[in-house]
Amino acid sequence: MSTHRNVAPVFNRYANVFDPINNRHFFKRMMKHRAYFNMFPCFEQRHQICHKIGAKNLLDVGCGPGYQDVILAKALNMKVTGIDVAANMIQIAEKNSELTEVKQLCDFKVADFMMFQSDNKFDVVSSFGVIEYVKDTEQFLKNLMSYSNKIVIFTFPVKWHWFMPLRFLYYKFRHCPLKINTYTNMCTCIEQIGVKNYNIYRLNRNYLVTIRVNN
Ligand SMILES: C[S@@+](CC[C@H](N)C(=O)[O-])C[C@H]1O[C@@H](n2cnc3c(N)ncnc32)[C@H](O)[C@@H]1O
Repeated sequence: MSTHRNVAPVFNRYANVFDPINNRHFFKRMMKHRAYFNMFPCFEQRHQICHKIGAKNLLDVGCGPGYQDVILAKALNMKVTGIDVAANMIQIAEKNSELTEVKQLCDFKVADFMMFQSDNKFDVVSSFGVIEYVKDTEQFLKNLMSYSNKIVIFTFPVKWHWFMPLRFLYYKFRHCPLKINTYTNMCTCIEQIGVKNYNIYRLNRNYLVTIRVNN
């Protein structure tokens, strides 16, 4: 099952907020910082995990503008593959890898993860801020697991948060699906695909899930 047809157009439009070169607009810069403020602790955890396990490569699903991917590639000298259904996001991620001088370590491509096929496996598979746009949560989780050798790490938003109604309206007006799982729902989905060992932490308005993959 492919991703809803309105997801890519919404994020293609949203991408200009993240443009590192043309983004001189004060409001857009504020939006960008606001968006990142919440995700920083999650990226920090991913960075620490990659460092701790000596990860050689990472797949970032729904990488968006790839800001943290290029930092990770540079800091840990690791290979990063980023995929995103929005072509404008991938263009920005490529620009970022050039600006950060890690083009040789990064591979960003346009792809819908629900239709994605690759023979490669990755030490770490991450997906931040993406699962809520996917209809079939369990299939998405299965796909994440199938590409990982060691760790899967992903976020999902806290449902009962004051920000959620605003976010819900934003996407409703754009006819873009937003499926918010509760903590309990998500535990059920994770267990339903046969995963027993996982951790969930709350970080700001997101939950961060880490799963150790047993091969
Ligand atoms: C909220 S943004 C998060 C971007 C990035 N992970 C971050 O944290 O900065 C969600 C991204 O997921 C992408 N996305 C949504 N569904 C996807 C799918 N099925 N396959 C690939 N990318 C997807 C969107 O295009 C968007 O760029």
